[in-house]
Amino acid sequence: MIRHHHRPRPLALALLLVAVTALAAPAPATAAGLPYQDPTLPVATRVADLLARMTLDEKLGQMTQAERGSVTASDLTTYRLGSVLSGGGSAPTPNTATSWADMYDGFQRAALATPLGIPMIYGVDAVHGHNNVYGATIFPHNIGLGATRDPALVQQIGQAVAEEITGTGVDWNFAPCLCVARNDRWGRTYESFGETPDLPSSLSTLVTGLQGTTLGGPTSVLATAKHYVGDGGTTGGDDQGDTQLSEADLRAIHLPPFQAAVQRGVGSVMISYSSWNGVKLHGHRYLITDVLKGELGFSGFVVSDWNGIDQIDGASGFTAAEVSAAVNAGIDMVMVPTAWKTFLSTLRAEVQNGHVPMSRIDDANRRILTKKFELGLFERPYTDRSRTSTVGGAAHRALARQAVRQSQVLLKNDGGVLPLARDNNKIFVAGKNADNIGNQSGGWTISWQGSSGAVTPGTTILQGIRAAAGPTTTVTYNQRGTGIDRTYRAAIAVVGETPYAEGQGDRTGSMSLDRDDLRTITTLRNSGVPVIVVLVSGRPLDVAAELPRWNALLASWLPGTEGGGVADVLFGGYAPTGKLPMTWMNSVSQQPINAGDGQVPLFPQGYGLTY
Ligand code: GLC
Repeated sequence: MIRHHHRPRPLALALLLVAVTALAAPAPATAAGLPYQDPTLPVATRVADLLARMTLDEKLGQMTQAERGSVTASDLTTYRLGSVLSGGGSAPTPNTATSWADMYDGFQRAALATPLGIPMIYGVDAVHGHNNVYGATIFPHNIGLGATRDPALVQQIGQAVAEEITGTGVDWNFAPCLCVARNDRWGRTYESFGETPDLPSSLSTLVTGLQGTTLGGPTSVLATAKHYVGDGGTTGGDDQGDTQLSEADLRAIHLPPFQAAVQRGVGSVMISYSSWNGVKLHGHRYLITDVLKGELGFSGFVVSDWNGIDQIDGASGFTAAEVSAAVNAGIDMVMVPTAWKTFLSTLRAEVQNGHVPMSRIDDANRRILTKKFELGLFERPYTDRSRTSTVGGAAHRALARQAVRQSQVLLKNDGGVLPLARDNNKIFVAGKNADNIGNQSGGWTISWQGSSGAVTPGTTILQGIRAAAGPTTTVTYNQRGTGIDRTYRAAIAVVGETPYAEGQGDRTGSMSLDRDDLRTITTLRNSGVPVIVVLVSGRPLDVAAELPRWNALLASWLPGTEGGGVADVLFGGYAPTGKLPMTWMNSVSQQPINAGDGQVPLFPQGYGLTY
C-alpha cells in the first residue's frame, strides 16, 4: 500500500493540481521515476511498490504464459500477459539467431507498451544447447553428461548455453531436468543425469551455469528445476504416469535434486505431469506449497507444465475447479499455450467468487516479479546483440566436443581392439547412426521429437572418424555393411535408436536393437573382421545376447552435433573416462533395474573401462 502521511484540504488540492498541470509536460504513459523503476532500491521494495499499483487483470496477466504461435504482440499489450514460450520446435521463420532476437524484441516492446511497463519473460526448452535454434551448439543429452561425473564441466555447459540463449533475447530455460529415471522404458530416460539422486544433485551445477551465482549477470538466464516431483519414478516408466511410492521413498529418491537446485538459487520449478499415489502433482498443495515452498524454502516461482492443469481431473480441457486447484496448490504461473484467454477469464471469476484468495494472487505475483527484477529485465529488457554471434560458435562447439569425449562409456574391449591406429589402417564403418546428425542428437533438436537427417550443422560420427584417420588410412562407409571383406582391420557399427521425446519414446515391449542394426552387425561379423559397436541411444538397451559376438562396445548416448568427440575416443586421442549413470540390464525382464536392488545386471552403475 502507498501510505499518505496526511490528506490535504480540497481547496489546497485544487490549487496544487492547477499548478502541477500548468508546469508539467503531459505525463508519459509510464511516469518515469516511480520507486519500482528505481534500480537502486531493494528488489522487495520495488516489488511492493509495483504490486500496489497493479490492477487485478495486470496481476492475472503476470500468471499467464502463452505460446508464441497463439499470441500476437498486441495481445501482450491488451491482456497484460507476463510470459511467452516456445514449445519444442516452435521457432520464427527464418530460424536464425537474429530472427529469434527480432521476435523476442517485438514481444517485449509490446509488453512494455502497457501502463506499468512490466517486461515479459520468454521461456524455451534449451535442454542440450539452444536446441530450437538452427545452427546452435547441441551438447550431449543429460544421460551422457551423467556419465562424465563432472559438475564443473556441466556448469561450463550451462554458461555456454546461457550465452547462446541470451544472444537470441530469451531469458528463461526450462532446464535442467533433475529427474531420477528409475525405469529405462521411460521415454525421457535420456533427460536424466542418472538413476540415483546423487547424480542429478551433483550435476545441478547446470543451474549455476545458466543463472550465474546470482541472477542479473550479462548472460544470466532463469533456470528451471523440473519436473517436480517423481517424474522418473512412474510404474512401468509410463510417461506422465503414477509414481507409487511411500513418502519416505519419494523423499529419499526424487526430492534431493530439487533440494540441491533450491540451494543453488534456482529461479523456477516446473511441476510434473505425473501423479504421486494417484494424485496429480499439478494439484498437489502439500508437495508444492508445504514441502517445496515451505520445507525446502523455495522462493522462486512455480510454473505448470504444458496444459498441465488440464489433467488434474483426468478429463481434457480445464475447468474452473482445476484452475483454482492448481493456483491454490501453489502454481504461480500457468503454461496455457493456446487457451490463455479462457484461463484469464476463468481465474478472474475464481478470484471474484472467493475460490482463489487475493493473497495467493499477490504471492504468485511477488514471486514472478522478484525474478524479473533480479534478472534485470526492467533495466535491460531487449536482446543483448553482442552475444548473438556466439550461437553455434567455435568455442561452444569445442566445449561440446570435450563433453562428448567425457561422456563415452567403454563397456567392452576384447583384445584391445580399441584404440584404433590412425595410420596405415583400413576401417569399415556401417550403421544407420554413423552419418546422421539428427539420430546422434536425439529428441528436442530443431523439432520437439527430433528427427533423422542433417537437421542442423554439425559433425557426424563418421565425419569425425574420417577427420581423425591419417592419410595412409582407408575409411569406407556403407550403412548396411555391404562391401566389407577380410582386408579391413576393424569394422565399426554405429547403431541404436532414432529420435523421440516424452511419451513417444516409452518402450513397453522389446528394448533390443532393431532388425536393421542386427542385420548390419551380422554382415560385418560374417566377414571375420573384428566388430566395434558404437551405441547411439537415449538409454541402456537389451544387448546381452548379442554382446559375446562383439569385440568392443562403446556407449555413446546422444552426443549432439560434435561427433568428433566419439572419434577422439575411438582413436585414443582421449582415453575413455565415462562411467555408467544407469545400471545396464541383463535382460529387459529386469526393468526396472537399479543399483542396490539385488538384481544381477550386465554392467553395474558406475562401470566403465579405459585404455
Ligand atoms: C513439455 C515438457 C516440458 C517442457 C514443456 C514446454 O510437454 O513436459 O519438459 O518444458 O512441455 O515445452
